[in-house]
Amino acid sequence: MENLIEKAKQNHSLTKVELVEILTDDTINDQLFKAADEVRAKYVGDEVHLRALIEFSNICKRNCFYCGLRSENKNVERYRLSPEQIVETAGMAAQRGYKTVVLQGGEDSYFSAEKLAEIIKQIKQFDTAITLSTGEMTFEEYKILKSAGADRFLLRIETTDEKLYKKLHPAASFENRKRCLYDLKKLGFETGTGCLVGLPEQTVESLADDILFFKELNADMIGIGPFIPHKDTPLGNASAGSFTLALKVMALTRLLLPYINIPATTAMETLVKNGRNIALQSGANVVMPNVTAMEFRKKYEIYPDKISVDYSEMEKSLTQIGRIIGQDRGDSKNRREKC
Ligand code: 5AD
Ligand code: SF4
Repeated sequence: MENLIEKAKQNHSLTKVELVEILTDDTINDQLFKAADEVRAKYVGDEVHLRALIEFSNICKRNCFYCGLRSENKNVERYRLSPEQIVETAGMAAQRGYKTVVLQGGEDSYFSAEKLAEIIKQIKQFDTAITLSTGEMTFEEYKILKSAGADRFLLRIETTDEKLYKKLHPAASFENRKRCLYDLKKLGFETGTGCLVGLPEQTVESLADDILFFKELNADMIGIGPFIPHKDTPLGNASAGSFTLALKVMALTRLLLPYINIPATTAMETLVKNGRNIALQSGANVVMPNVTAMEFRKKYEIYPDKISVDYSEMEKSLTQIGRIIGQDRGDSKNRREKC
C-alpha cells in the first residue's frame, strides 16, 4: 500500500482498483495526507489563494435532495442581491485585497447570461479574476459569460454514480451536467468541479470514479466536501459524510492532479473544528472566505451551521501553519504547465 502512495506521488496515476484499495484502508491515512501535502508544496507552493465568495441569490429552480436551498423548501426566506449590490460587494472585496471574486447563486432565472454579463463587465474595473458558480446553462450562454470577461467556472458533478445522481436530482440530466463541464473547458474557462462525500448509498467505488472523472476532464479546480444533512430536505435524517473520507478523496485528487487548485471547503471546516487547516495540510491550497453581507449570508443555508472566516483571521491562521496568502490571482498552474 505504501508503494501505491509512493507510485502515485511520482506518476500521478492510479487505477480504480488501487484508488478503492487506498480509500478502504485507514491504516495508511497519515502517509496519504503527508504525500498529498508534499505534492501540493512541490507543484503549487506554500501560497494559499483567497477567493471572495459572494452569495448573490438563494433562489433556485432546482430541487437537489441534499440542499437547503432546493425549490421545494418553503422554510427559506429567499433573497436576491441587485446588480448594484453585487458590484459594490465585489469592489469592497477587491479593496480588502482579494484577487478573485466568486459569484455563487442558485439557478435563478432572473440572472440571465445577459444580466450576468453586465455585472461581470462592471466588476472587471476592479481588476480581479472572476469565477462564476451559477449552474447549468447552454453553450451559447456560457459563451456570453466568457466574452464578458469571466475567467473561471465552478460546477460540481456531485457524484458520477448515474443512478444515485438521478435519485438525488429529480428532473435533471447527468449527461447535461457533463456536457456543461466539457463546454466550459472548450470555451477556455478555468473549470472547477467536485463531489460530495458521504451521500446515502454512495460507494467507495463511485468515489474512485469521481476522482478518475476529475482527471479525465482535466479539471483546473476541484472542490470536495462531506455531505451535511439539512433538516428541511428529503435527506434530513441521513447521517453526515465522514470528514476523513472526504479528506482522503481530496488528498488522492491532489496526487493525481498535482497542478490544480483545491479549496479547503467550508463543509470540512463546518464538520470538524480546525478542518480547514487540516485540509490545507493534506493537499488544499485555496480558501474561499464569504464576503456576502451578514443579513444575506445566514439565509444562504445550503446546509446548517455553515462557518465563515474573513481576510484578517485567515492571515493569522495561515501563519500558524507556515503558509502565506497568495499575492497574485492564483490562476490554475494546470493550464500553464500543459500549454
Ligand atoms: N452538504 C454539503 N454540501 C452541500 N452542497 C449542497 N448541499 C450540501 C449539503 N447538504 C454543495 C453542493 C453544491 C455546493 C454549492 O454545495 O456540492 O455544488
Ligand atoms: Fe440549487 Fe445548487 Fe442547492 Fe442544487 S445544490 S438546490 S442547484 S443551490
